[in-house]
Amino acid sequence: MAAPKDFLEFVDANADLFIQRLGEAVAIPSVSGDPSHRQDVLKMSNWLNAQLQALGVDTKQVDLGTQELEGQTLQLPPAVLGSIGKDPKKKTILIYGHFDVQPAQLSDGWDTEPFTLVVDDASGKLIGRGSTDDKGPILGWLNVLQYHHKHGKELPVNLKFCFEGMEESGSEGLDDLVIRESKPGGYFEGVDCVCISDNYWLNTRTPALTYGLRGVVYYAIHVTGPARDLHSGAFGRTVHEPMTDLIALMNKLVDGKGNILIPGVDDMVAAADAEERKLYEQLDYSIADVEEAAGGKIALSDDKVQVLMGRMRLPSLSLHGIEGAFSGVGAKTVIPSKVAGKFSIRLVPPQTPENITPLVNKYIEEEFAKLGTKSQVRIEYLHGGRPWVANVKHWNYEAAIKATEAVYKRKPDLMREGGSIPVTLTFAESLGVNVLLLPMGRGDDGAHSTNEKLDRSNFIEGTKLLGSYLYEVAALS
Ligand code: BES
Ligand code: MN
Ligand code: MN
Repeated sequence: MAAPKDFLEFVDANADLFIQRLGEAVAIPSVSGDPSHRQDVLKMSNWLNAQLQALGVDTKQVDLGTQELEGQTLQLPPAVLGSIGKDPKKKTILIYGHFDVQPAQLSDGWDTEPFTLVVDDASGKLIGRGSTDDKGPILGWLNVLQYHHKHGKELPVNLKFCFEGMEESGSEGLDDLVIRESKPGGYFEGVDCVCISDNYWLNTRTPALTYGLRGVVYYAIHVTGPARDLHSGAFGRTVHEPMTDLIALMNKLVDGKGNILIPGVDDMVAAADAEERKLYEQLDYSIADVEEAAGGKIALSDDKVQVLMGRMRLPSLSLHGIEGAFSGVGAKTVIPSKVAGKFSIRLVPPQTPENITPLVNKYIEEEFAKLGTKSQVRIEYLHGGRPWVANVKHWNYEAAIKATEAVYKRKPDLMREGGSIPVTLTFAESLGVNVLLLPMGRGDDGAHSTNEKLDRSNFIEGTKLLGSYLYEVAALS
């Protein structure tokens, strides 16, 4: 059953109002990773809660307790749960999204203020932090609700919502909530499937559905030496330097081709057979797509299948930064007294934080011992999540394929994704239902990057897609 024609017309007719509302959401700098913005994440929780209520959704904000961050005890932003429709004859879909965002500053290299949504009419881009990750998709659901609310029309399915404000910081506190509310009598009781819109098409042309995500483990290697920062003239070549030791260690984690050097990690994953390779061959993707999205001719291989497998079905290790290193202007002649090297590994089945962390610890300790330094090392595990792969032979995917065909007049690419949304697997396991990722944005949106954008057409057609998906689920039940 296709979505009503007047729904599709309503979305077109109200596009400017929807964009204005997205502007309101982007203007709240809800950066979960920065303690100084914690109040804004709270504000965003309140804003979303009020929006949902105004559209007829029963809501509650759930206190998730506190968190220790950089020596401070911080209140976690409340999750927003919602429910609309209780018809036992209809399917119940649980919608997940996150209203926190990554940090952003004009000085990072943005062309416009990151927390002011800029509508660029020439390119059709809606530019601002959170436009695609993940405020645009959340607001897509609000747009769908608005049509039904305004016209006094019942939704074709019952909906539950679970929106959180800590996703970008490892979804602190959410797993417990999801597990608790998935039990008999819990808020999510009766949920038939889950839909998450928090990812992107593979390219800029072809709509996609996503049935897999990589997991992640994030670590800091702390190396300490002198009691305080030292003058490199007075102490250079007279003491062991923590930064030298740390760089040596970080250099042993991954090679320039992406091979992970920690014994046992790459080996855990079986090679793809011919049938699986074919899945990657069939995807509408080229080396030009990855290089355009990355903004440089820097792909690890000329072979599209190899590049896609590197993102979707192989683990990867990335070095992120060194805390405590000199990074200011000028040429300070300092020997930093303590430094922390940050890196993460993206995981694929059968890898888990539990089976990877011992390998990481053992290897780093062994390699550190080989350095023969008098510095001290400590490995800190910051956060982690397991990978997830879903069964696409399910009515949830069938409905999403039909909705995509209805809105975009073409079949979606079925893909796995390299990013992580740790709570996905928690939903799948604790509810025991199928989970679908239904992306709104494009592969070049620049989530986490400068000039993050969502194309106007993806916001508007994406709203139609979300709505149509609900009607297709109803039709298949
Ligand atoms: N929306 C992303 C997940 C994502 C990334 C999907 C790339 C598809 C492609 C999500 O907001 C995110 O950034 N997740 C973090 C999770 C981490 C903090 C545990 C990630 O992947 O780094
Ligand atoms: Mn996201
Ligand atoms: Mn993100």
